[in-house]
Amino acid sequence: MNTWVVTLGEDAVKMVAQWIRESSYTVVLTGAGVSAESGIPTFRGRDGLWNKYRPEELATPEAFNSNPKRVWEWYKWRMELIAKAQPNLAHIVLAKMQQKDTIGPIITQNVDGLHQRAGAVDVVELHGNIWRVKCISCSYASKLDSPPEEIPPRCPECGSLLRPGVVWFGEPLPEQAIRRALQEASHAKLILVVGTSLQVYPAAYLPVLTKNYGGHVVIINPTPTPLDDEADLVIRREAGEFFEKLGKELGLI
Ligand code: OAD
Ligand code: ZN
Repeated sequence: MNTWVVTLGEDAVKMVAQWIRESSYTVVLTGAGVSAESGIPTFRGRDGLWNKYRPEELATPEAFNSNPKRVWEWYKWRMELIAKAQPNLAHIVLAKMQQKDTIGPIITQNVDGLHQRAGAVDVVELHGNIWRVKCISCSYASKLDSPPEEIPPRCPECGSLLRPGVVWFGEPLPEQAIRRALQEASHAKLILVVGTSLQVYPAAYLPVLTKNYGGHVVIINPTPTPLDDEADLVIRREAGEFFEKLGKELGLI
């Protein structure tokens, strides 16, 4: 099928709504762009975090081993931003779509938990969750409800360092999450790919899998991605704006 690149004519919204209605199984893949309109910075692009910070100094096991305080300061700052943020219309409409069984799981690369705060119940977190912490020495793990006061936080059981429960560069993805994501993407008749630059694997492979198994791929992103040529439809718009229109078209908001 040819790729259609469109902006946000009503036709695009109607077309996606129709594809969703006709699809027997739709899954969603999201990235940092879906939370951008909630005020949470993305990683790549003009105002992206990786333009200001070096990932190898903040998001690798080596960085944590050599300077846990600096890594924790950065995570604490992100936790504070996330705690203040509210889900936007993209999170809200996706959650409503899921509640109505219009879509299956939301597979996300985000660690912010905003899909769940909007009411989504089936979220596959490929890169962990920023509110989770785990001990680097023992099996202690827990969930925080606010940023830790003492940096770096210590394990209440053994006194070792606690680390954020997120996936860093060079680390494997949580086994159950990636297994489920691969399975869901291969079964999907339609995948909506929202707000991800598709630069990080294996997440970026999921829409390819859907396509290889004969499903359709719709990309919603204001900037081009490496998969645009493979997609059935590319909508160069912001997620909040698109999902507001789609939510209205589907009678959800
Ligand atoms: P990126 O920051 O790489 O990409 C965000 C994408 O969202 C870009 O393509 C933007 O154009 C797009 N975008 C920006 N604003 C948007 C909006 N309002 N609506 C829709 N799209 C918008 O984020 P990810 O693809 O999620 O991993 O990055 C993947 C992984 O790389 C992250 O999980 C993180 C990062 O390094 C780790 O830290 C392991
Ligand atoms: Zn411990």
